[in-house]
Amino acid sequence: MEKLIIRGGKSLRGETQVGGAKNSVLKLMAASLLAETPSTIRNVPEIKDVFIMKEVLERLGAGVEFQNHVLSIEPSLNNFETPYELVSLMRASIIVLGPLVGRFGEARVAKPGGCNIGRRKINLHLKGLSQLGVEIRIDRGYIEATAKKIKGGRVFLEFPSVGATENLIMASVLAKGETIVIENAAREPEIVDLCNFLQAMGAKIEGIGESTLVIRGVDSLSGVDYSAIPDRIEAGTYLLAGAITGGEVYVSNANPEHLELFLMKLEEAGLEIKRLEKGISIRSEGYTESIDVATFPYPGFPTDLQPQIVALLALAEGVSVVTENIFENRFLYVDELNRLGADIEVKSNRAIINGVKELYGAPTSAPDLRGGAALILASLAAQGTSEVLNVSHIDRGYENIEKKLKSLGAQIERIESNEERSAGK
Ligand code: UD1
Repeated sequence: MEKLIIRGGKSLRGETQVGGAKNSVLKLMAASLLAETPSTIRNVPEIKDVFIMKEVLERLGAGVEFQNHVLSIEPSLNNFETPYELVSLMRASIIVLGPLVGRFGEARVAKPGGCNIGRRKINLHLKGLSQLGVEIRIDRGYIEATAKKIKGGRVFLEFPSVGATENLIMASVLAKGETIVIENAAREPEIVDLCNFLQAMGAKIEGIGESTLVIRGVDSLSGVDYSAIPDRIEAGTYLLAGAITGGEVYVSNANPEHLELFLMKLEEAGLEIKRLEKGISIRSEGYTESIDVATFPYPGFPTDLQPQIVALLALAEGVSVVTENIFENRFLYVDELNRLGADIEVKSNRAIINGVKELYGAPTSAPDLRGGAALILASLAAQGTSEVLNVSHIDRGYENIEKKLKSLGAQIERIESNEERSAGK
């Protein structure tokens, strides 16, 4: 176990660079299984979730090498099962379901449970796959999917689920000669990245980035050399580190187009934003106005930046209301923020944030990945010393977070700790 010790109250200044998008890379790794030949994926962050996905692919028989942010994947498989021991470490492991049935016509993947932020059902993945002719059976905690052939047709998603859209795309691209239409598809930049990766492999997808996707199944796909898009959530987190500490930060390698609504909201809160060709900069006058925010599927405000913006608004002038529309339990970190002196009340899916003048250092515990990031941000702004326990949640999605923050002038150290505390329970 490790924890972070943060001495807060210092304005962050300087430049940091974001890596490749976690939520894109995990799907590109799964998609590489659809090809007959090896793929190379570049700009891959060295984070825990990528190492778990590497193990998922290796269990299926793939050869995977990972060095200097480059993954090489040899997709010759000899097994179609992903055990619970891996799915329970990372529920995104179920993303191999689509590629396995799409290419091999069979998959046995442990059914994921909920996680700290919500129940996270997969009914839309399974319903969509059945509509494409995949036979689904649930057998003692495992999803068994078989398909002699993927059928053409139309799938209308009840909700634009990111994972369901991705599983359906990957199940469809090899449906030789069939046309599959996915309506109300999710449009996140990571889905666009997945479609571009598949197109480079030889897939035929129309409507990329739109809510209706038309996929014409091809006979086979070949491996490619591809670089993942930058991580918009990591970028947003470092911009907020600049904002919450009253500093000035330039985040290089970030794409402002992927964060438009987030950046607009920061401007509304009084921060100065520059959208540059190769990055984004933020400058704070040391003052934040209260704003209201509601999370929605892309291009709406990203739920993965909801906890971090709440941390900023905890120190804003006046009352802000943040509404969470994607996950039913994404406010676990709020009690921890309140331990730092924030004044936030959660009512159903809303956080009512009474801005305070100051936060003060205290020990806290990360309840989940993005909630943990919010606690780091608040600790950077708090007077005195804070601790963030359960750092392993944060390591799932941020590479070298303390190193990057240190380079901006933060006083933050990682130390061994035998304390474990579950937050929000
Ligand atoms: C992905 C991202 C996650 C992000 C989320 C929303 C990855 C690895 N994770 O998660 O970081 O927060 O998109 O942008 O890419 N739902 C159902 N039935 C389903 C599928 C989803 O009810 O079959 C519900 C979920 O419980 C959740 C909501 O829909 O409440 C959104 O889920 P979804 O868009 O599928 O997110 P993920 O793909 O799990």
